[in-house]
Amino acid sequence: MSQQSQHDILIIGSGAAGLTAALALAEERTVLVLAKGRLDSGSTASAQGGIAAVFDAGDTFENHIRDTMVAGAGLNRLETVEFVVERAPHAIDRLSALGVPFNTEGHDLHLTREGGHSHRRIVHVNDATGLAVQQALLKAAADHPNITLLAGRSCIDLITGRHEERYSGSGRVWGVYALNEATGRVETHVARATVLASGGAGRCYLFSTAPRGATGDGIAMAWRAGARVSNMEMMQFHPTCLYNLEVKNFLITEAVRGEGGRLINPTTGKRFMPYYDERLELAPRDVVARAIDAEIKRYGLDYVHLDISHMPEDFVREHFPNIHEKLLGLGIDMTKEPIPVVPAQHYTCGGVVIDLRGRTDLPGLYAAGECTESGLHGANRLASNSLLECFVFGEAAATDILARWDEFEQPPPIRPWDESRVTDSDEEVVIKQNWTEIRRFMWNYVGIVRTTKRLERAQHRIKLLQDEVGDYYGHFRVTTDLIELRNLLQSAELIVRSALKRHESRGLHYTLDYPQTDPEARDTVLVP
Ligand code: FAD
Ligand code: SIN
Repeated sequence: MSQQSQHDILIIGSGAAGLTAALALAEERTVLVLAKGRLDSGSTASAQGGIAAVFDAGDTFENHIRDTMVAGAGLNRLETVEFVVERAPHAIDRLSALGVPFNTEGHDLHLTREGGHSHRRIVHVNDATGLAVQQALLKAAADHPNITLLAGRSCIDLITGRHEERYSGSGRVWGVYALNEATGRVETHVARATVLASGGAGRCYLFSTAPRGATGDGIAMAWRAGARVSNMEMMQFHPTCLYNLEVKNFLITEAVRGEGGRLINPTTGKRFMPYYDERLELAPRDVVARAIDAEIKRYGLDYVHLDISHMPEDFVREHFPNIHEKLLGLGIDMTKEPIPVVPAQHYTCGGVVIDLRGRTDLPGLYAAGECTESGLHGANRLASNSLLECFVFGEAAATDILARWDEFEQPPPIRPWDESRVTDSDEEVVIKQNWTEIRRFMWNYVGIVRTTKRLERAQHRIKLLQDEVGDYYGHFRVTTDLIELRNLLQSAELIVRSALKRHESRGLHYTLDYPQTDPEARDTVLVP
């Protein structure tokens, strides 16, 4: 690939959202998909539990909509929730047609259960749903003659009117500048429409189930280009990440609790969820994560126990084959003993503001998946609603682009990336030091339980680091680590700024200074 490319549509991200959009668009147009690192390095491949969809005989769309709104503490946009929930069965059918081998029971799909769901509703492939989905989507995309997949491209910044050869100053998006990780050169990828599908910003936190590359790149790029972002304070912490000093981000799926797993305080030996919520271990995630956090702090624990050893051994092995095997390798037999778990950052509910067609504020820029704030999740995502959001909005964005194709002009000539004033970095240690510092203070000051004082401390640290990182970025040639650090810092800044703006506790944002929930639910919208 030369240092310049032009396709009809450019997609940033090869997870569930990006590849869903790519497959729909490729029916009529040429599509380039770029990914940082490997094509399967996003969150999609590590999703465990599954995909929420109404298939159970006693279940209804209304139930799924209500459960989503209850988990989201009323901050969700009803029309988005309806839009997504009603399209879920169709999304599952399309995935089945692509060859995703969902578990079945007789002629029906097997449905598991997760926290916050009033019915069995989770369509799954054992306990490794995401991997099966990622593989099926990648195979279909690789086989499609209209799709070009390019791994090892770290996108740096969106190309807008400011980068036209004849500077226009408009916010129209024409593609992206991307670092080729193999050659170290910056490429210019131009398109008539661009879809951002770059995943979340989980790696802002010291402990996170998200993969290494979840550094909020797309959110930061869209923000720098002029798009609004919303509800960034709503960072979801999964209650049950494995506590292990070597394996730091292995998730123990919520389905373990859905199938009977209990949370036990290792000091008292007692099940503690009855003290916190009548829905017990199947309360929404924010409630369970706060309960675990409270037990850990009150008893000075390193972890709590998740115990499913009272269920028959065959049942546990059959339902959780991958987790069972992984834990055995670490010396834990979950059929006989409890699993040590802690909460860890898991999902970015906020992001780039989009409408029901996946359109952002910027002409030519669409977005889908975890990098967005579509109105689906509100103040707390209901389990297994996020893969679903990727499929629904990946398709919605593609449908709108194809319907409006004639309105998308040919890109004008674009200036190549300018490296004339930078040199190779002389001190890589600066990047590592700053990256670790951000993740540590975000964990300590902007975590499960917040206070204004802690948030202000984090904001102060961010301001200092912005000068340092800005200076570094201005002087040295970009590397993936530097691109990620810049975006991580930008994402952290947006999270803290949003958290400081919300003067109430709602869903995932819990602050000791404003413990009340206001009568009216309002989005935190940041305007660049
Ligand atoms: P991702 O799948 O994260 O893909 C992001 C893509 O963007 C990647 O290809 C990445 O390389 C690319 N990218 C990022 N930055 C750049 C850049 N600068 N340049 C180029 N490319 C870039 N949700 C559910 O609904 N059900 C579950 O069971 C479930 N389990 C989960 C388990 C785990 C451990 C985790 C971490 C998440 C889980 N989730 C689950 C959440 C869900 O997996 C994600 O929200 C979803 O997969 C996000 O998909 P996406 O397409 O938006 O982004
Ligand atoms: C899990 O399997 O517990 C994760 C489900 C989700 O994040 O939606």
